Amino acid sequence: MTAVRSQFNSRIGFIMAAAGSAVGLGNIWGFPTQVASNGGAAFVLVYLILTFLLAYPVLIVEMTIGRYAQSNVVSALSKLSDNKIAANFGYGIGLYAIIVACLMLSFYAIISGWLFAHLIGSLSSIIGFPDFETWLYENTVSRNLIFAAIFATLTIYVVAKGIEKGIEKWSKTLMPILLIILVLLAGYTLTLPGALAGVRVYLLPDFSSLANPSIYINALGQSFFSLSLGIGGMIVYGSYLSKNESIPKIGATVALFDVLIAFLAGLLIIPALYAALHYGANIYDANGLLTSGESLIFEVLPILFDIIGTSGIIVSILFFFLLSIAALTSAISILEVPVSLVIETQNLTRRKATLLTGGAVFCVSAITIINFDILFPLILDFTTKYSITLISAIFCIYVGWIWKRTNLLKELQRGSSDISNSLFWKIWPNYVKFVCPVLIALIFTQFFV
Ligand code: PHE
Repeated sequence: MTAVRSQFNSRIGFIMAAAGSAVGLGNIWGFPTQVASNGGAAFVLVYLILTFLLAYPVLIVEMTIGRYAQSNVVSALSKLSDNKIAANFGYGIGLYAIIVACLMLSFYAIISGWLFAHLIGSLSSIIGFPDFETWLYENTVSRNLIFAAIFATLTIYVVAKGIEKGIEKWSKTLMPILLIILVLLAGYTLTLPGALAGVRVYLLPDFSSLANPSIYINALGQSFFSLSLGIGGMIVYGSYLSKNESIPKIGATVALFDVLIAFLAGLLIIPALYAALHYGANIYDANGLLTSGESLIFEVLPILFDIIGTSGIIVSILFFFLLSIAALTSAISILEVPVSLVIETQNLTRRKATLLTGGAVFCVSAITIINFDILFPLILDFTTKYSITLISAIFCIYVGWIWKRTNLLKELQRGSSDISNSLFWKIWPNYVKFVCPVLIALIFTQFFV
């Protein structure tokens, strides 16, 4: 039985879905947080350079593998070579990517649950249910379980509807809303007193922080996570991309969109921090660094929302809605990674496969919520720090060393017939073969020193 493989219905549909995947907590939470804890504008600079030099080429690697293989991530690598060993190793790497995807989704659902709780909290502050509000803002196991479950249900609902009617439709609706809210919020923040000091920190680099190796490691991890690399998410989306599209061009659009959103998010959050400082909030942690992560999003910014009065309630609703949208469009792409495997190997309907996989991932979330202090940091490091860079390097090695150059060229020529004369084709294949794995490995070794 060979059913016709689903496809995104239009170019803009693919771009919105892939950008929806890329633009997530990584951009709106992770990026400003990293900027705050890695020396401001110097980090922005390194991030932009690494996105262009490493993450973009790897994005093209994933999309090209996916569109050629027309399969889930476990079988994809094995299709690049006739060699048995390379094929079996490819299966192994594919399975590893599936495990990382499931773990990543499990922590994504937890954080997104917190965001949902704060969104409902901001809404209920209008109506005035003080007890309910207190419960929503308290970090308890019951609240975290309930809201992670709500988020997981919504993610399952969208993915179960399929590529065109679920993922594409929802991304096409939500991404423009996200962009509008982000621009509005950033514009508003810049009018607040004190915000300009934040713009300075954000845009004027202090080059001395470039001497610190951790800036490169953090920027690399951030840019790979942000472009959804290293779990095969872009392999799976690439497998639903029409053969008439030019992969390098469409990939560049997605990467630019992702960087733009991260940049705008920084322009919202760093100036907001300094506006909070202006109003008397403490924006530094015990080590004298700018606050980052949870305390930035759930403590310092809400202080600002409180101080600015009635408009603060609206800003707070919009802010948590923005984060929730970003989280949802990314989570659906992460869930699609294991779901596509289950559909293609277990002969299940999409609905059943999605429920089963999403349910299993929620169980992991629940176990993590109950054993939060031990499991959460472990899962976070295992997935975002070590695994996605390692798997990305292996994807590059498969495309550079194992896939026949003529077949690779043929795939890229679909949708860009003159590519063999382009600068892209002169540089990218050797770049992916030699430079990317070495650079990734170099930065990877820094994790262990
Ligand atoms: N890119 C998403 C973010 O920035 C996370 C993600 C990683 C999504 C891997 C899909 C696959 O939050």
